[in-house]
Order: sequence, then C-alpha cells, then structure tokens
Amino acid sequence: MLLAFDDEAVLAQRLADALACPLAFIDRHRFPDGESRLRLPPQLPEHTVLLRGLQQPNEKFTELLLAAGGARELGARRLTLVSPYLAYMRQDMAFTPGEVVSQRQVGRLLAAAFDAVVTVDPHLHRVATLDEVLPGRRGVALTAAPLLGDWVATQRRGALLLGPDEEALQWVRAAAQRPGLAYATCTKQRHADRHVAVALPEGLDLRGRPVVLLDDVASTGHTLVEAAREALARGAASVDAAVTHALLVDDALARLQAAGVGQVWSTDSVPHTTNAVSIAGLLAQALHSLLS
Ligand code: R5P
Repeated sequence: MLLAFDDEAVLAQRLADALACPLAFIDRHRFPDGESRLRLPPQLPEHTVLLRGLQQPNEKFTELLLAAGGARELGARRLTLVSPYLAYMRQDMAFTPGEVVSQRQVGRLLAAAFDAVVTVDPHLHRVATLDEVLPGRRGVALTAAPLLGDWVATQRRGALLLGPDEEALQWVRAAAQRPGLAYATCTKQRHADRHVAVALPEGLDLRGRPVVLLDDVASTGHTLVEAAREALARGAASVDAAVTHALLVDDALARLQAAGVGQVWSTDSVPHTTNAVSIAGLLAQALHSLLS
C-alpha cells in the first residue's frame, strides 16, 4: 500500500498506478495550537510505502515521524519512505565551528523510522552514497537527469546542456548521453543565499545555439539567473531551464523569466506549475526491485 498526504496527490496517484497498488491518503487535522492529528488506515499491509517530499521540511518532519511510528503500530513491518526531494542533504559538514551537520542528524532520524529511503537527485557532495547518510538502512538515490535530457531533446533540437556549476557535471552528463546532446558546466561562487557569481567556461562558443540550463534543484533561482545572463551575453539563441526539483521559492520563477529564461521545465518531484516530466515510473521501478 502507498500512503500519501493530499498535497502530493498527483504524484501519489501516478505512483500508485505505476505500482498497481492501493493508495490511501493520511487524514490530517491541525489543532489551533499547531499540533497535528493524523489518521491512517486502521490496518496496514506488511509492506507499506510512505510518499513524502521534504520541500519546506521543517513543518513536515514531525508529521513524517508521527506517521512512521503510527504505521509500524498498525502493521507495517517493512516501511519505505519515498521522499522525491530529500531536504538537508546540502548541509553535510560543519562549515564553522559548532555548526550542526544537519545531513547527519536528519539521516539518523530517518534511519530510526524507516527501513529504506528512496529519493531522486539528492545533493550529495562530500558523501558518496545515500547509504552512508542512513546508518544501517538502505538508501536508494535515483536520478531524473536522463528523463530531463529526453524531454529537452524533444523541445529544443541541438540544445547544449549547461550545468550552472561544477557539481552539475554529473547531471548534464547523464542527461546528455541518451539523446546525444552536447554539454558543458560553468563555475560558481556563492557569496550568500541570494548572491552567486557564475562564469562560463572560457572559449565556449554559444553564438546562435539553444542553451538549456540543467541542475538538480532551483531554490531562489539566482544560480540559474546568473547562468542565463552569462549565456545570453555570450550570444546564445535561447536559454531555457530544466531541473529535477522546482523549489522556486518566492518570486524565483518571475526573476528567471525577467532574466530571459524562456521555458522552465521540472519533474513532478515537487508539485509546481513548471512540472513537465514525471518521475512516477522511475520511482515504481526502484520500489519493485527494492521490495521484491
Ligand atoms: C547547489 O549547488 C545546487 O545544485 C543548486 O545550484 C542550488 O541549490 C540552487 O540554488 P539557488 O536557486 O538558490 O541559486
């Protein structure tokens, strides 16, 4: 059985269809003081999968842990979390003395609550695998990059995939492979949450070429905005963007458009108006191999 919250109903239904399994929504009540009361189906099968993306994570964590504990008491002996966007993966070291390594703490909490965690394009930088984040548990990190690459190839013939920073190399390379697209990456310096500088590789000729920026996540959109400005200044015929996770907080989408980005395409890992590519099949395939 797949359990989900109603604010992720679209992906939940697609995933349940792909898995051909029953889907139940968790009934949620918010008390006036902010506490939550959750109601799950009174009897759960041995294998239960909980779908919960962790965009805006702070308010979701408590309910996630309540739901996991409740599911165990209601019969779920093997409990898998599918968290298409897994938050806190970027805080993977103490950058200043005393700073909490959130990735480690979140990993421990999830490992205590779930037998396995499946996610898509987690921002793992200094650790190699998701297993390392989840002590003693199974972590499955999928990538949506090939799906995005296929989509881009149908939308922009002969596009050059441009990763806005060095870390995006893994995604542009994976996206470019199947459709045989060209790719390159920029270098990025982040000065503050909303202040980044992006530089194109020297000698990269973009004159008259359609460019598609491709990244794992767009949050404030500043990374994509700066990359788009650079690409247009270098003569790109058009600039569009494709991301796995469209967090796109506040006015990020409007600022991307104002910077000259034509289309923004995202996967349905995070519900957003830019969703164009579904990861339901990718998740279903991974769950089949994990649970069989
Ligand atoms: C980090 O390096 C990620 O891959 C993204 O480039 C980054 O998180 C995007 O953040 P923002 O949209 O706030 O610039």
